[in-house]
Amino acid sequence: MRRLFLWMARNRWLERNLPRLPFTRRAVARFMPGDDADSALNAAADLQRAGIPAIFTRLGENLTSAEEAAEVAEHYANLEEKIAAAQHHGEISVKLTQLGLDFDEDLTAAHVGRLASRAARNGTVWLDMEGSAYTERTIAFYERLKPTNPNIGICLQSYLRRTADDLQRLLPLEPAVRLVKGAYSESPSIAFHTRADVDANYLALAVLMLAARRTGINIRIGLGTHDLRLIEQIVGHATSLGLPRSAYEVQMLFGVRADEQRRLARGGFAVRVLISYGSAWYAWYMRRLAERPANVLFALRQLLPG
Ligand code: FDA
Repeated sequence: MRRLFLWMARNRWLERNLPRLPFTRRAVARFMPGDDADSALNAAADLQRAGIPAIFTRLGENLTSAEEAAEVAEHYANLEEKIAAAQHHGEISVKLTQLGLDFDEDLTAAHVGRLASRAARNGTVWLDMEGSAYTERTIAFYERLKPTNPNIGICLQSYLRRTADDLQRLLPLEPAVRLVKGAYSESPSIAFHTRADVDANYLALAVLMLAARRTGINIRIGLGTHDLRLIEQIVGHATSLGLPRSAYEVQMLFGVRADEQRRLARGGFAVRVLISYGSAWYAWYMRRLAERPANVLFALRQLLPG
C-alpha cells in the first residue's frame, strides 16, 4: 500500500487528473485548512490559543523557473510579515526545490538567506528534507548557510542509513534539527525498510541529540513525529539525563492526532504544528495516504453522498 501511494505521488497523469475530482478535495481538507495563507493563519490562531505555535508551509516542489521560485520567495516574505503582524510565534518551512535548487543553487541561497533574515524576529526557517536525490545537497546547503544565518533549521530522516553521520557532521554548527521518519520511497541499499528499524534509528538519533544537548551543545531538537510510543521513550531518556522539557519540542502535522497535540501542550510540553496549505497538494497528500491505510478509507468515504 505504501509503495503504491508513493508511486502515485510521482505519477504526472494522476497529478493532473485526481485533484479535479471533488471527493479528493473533500478528503484533503482533513489535513489542510485551505488553499491560501489566510486559512492557514486562521487555523494557527486557534492553535495559538491552545498554546501551540505553528510552522507554515506552502505546498509545491520541483519548480523549474527563476520566476516561479521568486514568486514563492515573495509569498513567504509576505507571509512572514503577516505572521509578525498577527504576533503568532509562527515559523516557516520550505522545500529547497520550491526555491530553485534544481536549477540555481546560488539563487536558492539568496532566497533562503533573505527569508531567514526577515524571520529572525519570529524564529526559525526550516528546510524540509526531500527525496534522497537531495539529501547531500540539502545538508551541504545547510552547512553553507547556517554560519551566517543562525535561525535556519533542517529536517533529518531516520529511515536513511546515513543520518547518524549527517547528524554528527552538523553538530558543530549547533543546528536546529527536526527529526522525522521520512516520507519518500527509498531503496533498501540506503534506507531502513522495516518499521522496527526506522523506529530504532529514530530513537538512537534522538538519544544522540539529547546527549549533545546535555554536553552543552546548543542544538534545537524538534521531534517531528506522531508516534507517542517513541515520544514517551525519548521523554523518559531526556528526564533520566536531567534535561527539562524545554530542551526539546514535539512537532506534528495539522489534522493528525490533534487531540494528542493539545494533551501534550496542556501537559507542559512544547508542541508545534506544521500547517500546510496551497493548491499544489497532490504529491504531498499521496505521501500522507501512504503513511496510514486508515486515511485511504477516510478518503474513500468522501465518495459517499452527504
Ligand atoms: P508513524 O507513521 O509510525 O505513525 C505513528 C502514528 O501516528 C500512527 O499509528 C498514526 O496513529 C499516526 N499517524 C501518522 N501519520 C499519520 C497520517 N498521515 N494520518 C493519520 N495518522 C497518522 N518527511 C520528510 O520526508 N521530509 C520532511 O521534511 C518532513 N517534514 C515533516 C514535518 C513534521 C512536523 C512532521 C510531523 C512530519 C514530517 N514529515 C517529513 C513526515 C514524516 O517523515 C512521516 O512520514 C510522518 O510524520 C509519519 O510518521 P510518524 O513519525 O508520525 O510515525
